[in-house]
Amino acid sequence: MAVPPDVRTRAEALRAEIRRHDHLYHVLDRPEITDAEYDRLFRELVALEAQYPELVTPDSPTQRAGAPPAEEFRPVPHAVPMLSLQNCFDAGELRDWDDRVRRLLGGEPVLYVCEPKLDGLSVALTYEDGRFTVGATRGDGRTGEDVTANLRTIRQLPLRLFPLNGTVPRLLEVRGEVYMEKAAFRALNEERARRGEPEFANPRNAAAGSLRQLDPAITASRPLKLFVYHVGRAEGITIRTQEQLLRTLAALGLPVNPRWELCRDLARVEAFYQDLLRHREALPYATDGMVVKVNDLAQRERLGEVARAPRWAIAYKFPAEEAVTRVREIAVQVGRTGALTPVAILDPVEVSGVTVSRATLHNEDEVRRKDVRVGDWVVVRRAGDVIPEIVRSLPERRTGEEREFRMPDRCPACGGPAVRLEDEAAHRCANLSCPARIREAVRHYASRRAADIQGLGDKLVDRLVAAGLVRRISDLYLLRAEDLLTVERMGEKSARNLLDQIERSKGITLPRLLYALGIPHVGERAAELLAERFPSLAALAKASADELTGVRGVGPEIAASIAAFFGNEENRRLIEALAAAGIDPRAEGSRTGPLAGKVVVFTGTLSAFTRDEARRIVEGLGGRAASGVSRGVDYVVAGRDPGEKLLRARELGIPVLSEEEFRALTGR
Ligand code: IVH
Repeated sequence: MAVPPDVRTRAEALRAEIRRHDHLYHVLDRPEITDAEYDRLFRELVALEAQYPELVTPDSPTQRAGAPPAEEFRPVPHAVPMLSLQNCFDAGELRDWDDRVRRLLGGEPVLYVCEPKLDGLSVALTYEDGRFTVGATRGDGRTGEDVTANLRTIRQLPLRLFPLNGTVPRLLEVRGEVYMEKAAFRALNEERARRGEPEFANPRNAAAGSLRQLDPAITASRPLKLFVYHVGRAEGITIRTQEQLLRTLAALGLPVNPRWELCRDLARVEAFYQDLLRHREALPYATDGMVVKVNDLAQRERLGEVARAPRWAIAYKFPAEEAVTRVREIAVQVGRTGALTPVAILDPVEVSGVTVSRATLHNEDEVRRKDVRVGDWVVVRRAGDVIPEIVRSLPERRTGEEREFRMPDRCPACGGPAVRLEDEAAHRCANLSCPARIREAVRHYASRRAADIQGLGDKLVDRLVAAGLVRRISDLYLLRAEDLLTVERMGEKSARNLLDQIERSKGITLPRLLYALGIPHVGERAAELLAERFPSLAALAKASADELTGVRGVGPEIAASIAAFFGNEENRRLIEALAAAGIDPRAEGSRTGPLAGKVVVFTGTLSAFTRDEARRIVEGLGGRAASGVSRGVDYVVAGRDPGEKLLRARELGIPVLSEEEFRALTGR
């Protein structure tokens, strides 16, 4: 269908307007319109593009997410190598560097720009005629990996640059850092812990792991941010200084860290460093020092590089954040899979502004390796500015009173036997009814990406388990209002809401249920792959080891874990009890439908259907209708007068459909 000229003009105007507001909101943190106004613009564009697909351009604001998963990352050679930085650790070393710079420049005046050193993952972003075309990781400095589709999901990254004096550079390759804010990192790790997934050691690893995902949908669900600070190549634009570079990149709409300073001498440089160190804790991002750069690019050219690092810049690192304290006790925590984790309880100590009073020791081998005993003096560090860990013990300070730690042979929560399986580092409580295990299992089952039972938070789970109302997951479906009312602080209204949510969770899809059961090693991705191959829990339970390992992405470890799970009598009874409660999802028949495995949320009033009808349409096509917008949601359908959910969807980058688009998608 030919696109009428006025439609094309309107689409372009909408894109320009949306880009401007994205920049105001995500980069400058200074929105000019309400979220509802923004949503109207966005929806109008989505509707136009749905009607005239040839209107869609890769740099349209609607195209951030949704690229298909890749098989592998394509290598991208860096036309200009991505260098690393030389380091220094004190004012004396900094002075030596400054002396050398001045000497090499024949004593002419030198200005420096200071910036925080971000602890993330460096990337190179290529813009051709103002359009974002390729984004790559640093790799070995000469060749990186093509992560374009993943980078597009970062809302701060402009897909198109703003013109400067009416033009955009022909070619601009900017470099910067993809990072995760400290608060977002903690939240992500909490969620991963709840799901039984390995936690990231620090925000840097979290950023790297999130960006290097073959499936851009996973990257989109991670709260990544970006700051740019360098230009690799530029054509059609002249930049002479770092100061001008930072101002120009910001004017083009790129996110530039506002915390930088042009310094006329070393005293100013040192003052910037001290100031950064003082504010380090309060900054939203992790930083391990500052970078000092010669401001004048012509001077940089003359200074050149040595050993793959420029002479014109240096990283002035913060002192290691370590402190010495004593181990009061080594406690043992019980996880969902029964894994027992030793945790050191410490005399509270401040490590770079934060009080640390506990540190995980992971498992018995780790305790041995670090030789940590109860009563020991130990060195603690906050890895990557966030998670506390014990670096080593100080045996020279022992008095002889210290006690070696031994993993208990009984579970500290239920007193049942704790066993260490061959080939495993962890000890596990073997008792499936252990209250600590039940608590963790129910928390996991109720979590957002599992059964998503809203209102069933950690505290409430603890109370339900402690009250003996929930002894296994399926007991959730036997709860009655009277039971809930006996639980401390639960009123009639919240009891009713919770029961509604529990009822709603019966519509759980097969992949989610597989994940929600908390089978060790079965994460979301494995659950999806298994649900594509096996149409029901019963089919999976009957699968042979060969059939299981025949599924792409399922190795012998996962296969053995699944076999062990279904081989267990207690677990088989749990599955039966769930089926009796009406939970026995099938993937059959709906596996190829447009909404198979998709989660849809409705907001606003629909004109052609009631909410219930719309929900049934979704379910009939193999999808699930959820009531709240979270990262697990695939589409939000917005009817007339949509509510808060639309804002949330936009924040999370979830595609929003109009009622017409929903009808087109479902064929109704
Ligand atoms: S300038 C080599 N500026 O630190 C010149 N780098 O340890 C280009 N980094 O690979 C780098 N914050 O990933 C520069 N404000 C900043 C930085 C920064 C973090 C990273 C960068 C580099 C690494 C070297």
